[in-house]
Amino acid sequence: MDGTGLRSAPEHVAIIMDGNGRWAQARGKPRLFGHHAGAKRVREIVEACPDLGVKYLTIFAFSTENWKRTQSEVSGLMKLFKRYLMSETKRLVSSGVRVRFIGDRIRLDETLVALMDELELLTCDNDLVHLTVALNYGGRDEVARATKRLSREVAAGRIDPESVDAETLARFLDTYVLPDPDLVIRTSGEARISNFLLWQSAYAEYEFIDTLWPDFTREEFASVISGYAVRERRFGAVPG
Ligand code: IPE
Ligand code: IPE
Ligand code: MG
Repeated sequence: MDGTGLRSAPEHVAIIMDGNGRWAQARGKPRLFGHHAGAKRVREIVEACPDLGVKYLTIFAFSTENWKRTQSEVSGLMKLFKRYLMSETKRLVSSGVRVRFIGDRIRLDETLVALMDELELLTCDNDLVHLTVALNYGGRDEVARATKRLSREVAAGRIDPESVDAETLARFLDTYVLPDPDLVIRTSGEARISNFLLWQSAYAEYEFIDTLWPDFTREEFASVISGYAVRERRFGAVPG
């Protein structure tokens, strides 16, 4: 809450950008056409963040389960990610966006990983908006990888197993530098999480909206954010 009694904007918004395939299908086009249209939306939403008071934006670009799609869709998406990073780098650097990636890089091709590393490095002094892109990301996979790293520390005698609590595990997650999301938005009408930020969203508010991702505008984003401001979050306590 701020001094006026209104709750301020969510500091961290996470978005499941869903519906590209259906958007293309409705136009009689191949699914990749929808992914290209979806990628174009990202800039508008990122650039809307400062005015809306959103400091952290995390977007779901490709899940650990999305490898199950056809080989041509997967390779088209990977090509799109590379092209997108190359074409957006300059603008992201100059517009004050700090970019990070979460997810397992091991399955991604090395040209893509090199572009991701470069973008993280080039934007590491930016602080206007913190954009995190979840690429080959799955919440369960992230917790499993974190547990593996934590177990190594325990096995090496650097962490006492008796001292391990939720906060210890959180330090090993891909998101260790980020605050938890306050608001998770999913487009396309599906009311599910699809393995996104499972641990981090324990107390997030959710908004499931019918709009397909390529049609999601800055205006609709602003209206979802203002809806958040009137919700009451309790975090398990009785409101005082
Ligand atoms: C989301 O759109 C983008 C990715 C998962 C990469 P979809 O491709 O899932 O679109 P729909 O759900 O089939 O419409
Ligand atoms: C979630 O969407 C993943 C991304 C938006 C990248 P999906 O379309 O893959 O999720 P399901 O299959 O409908 O659960
Ligand atoms: Mg989908």
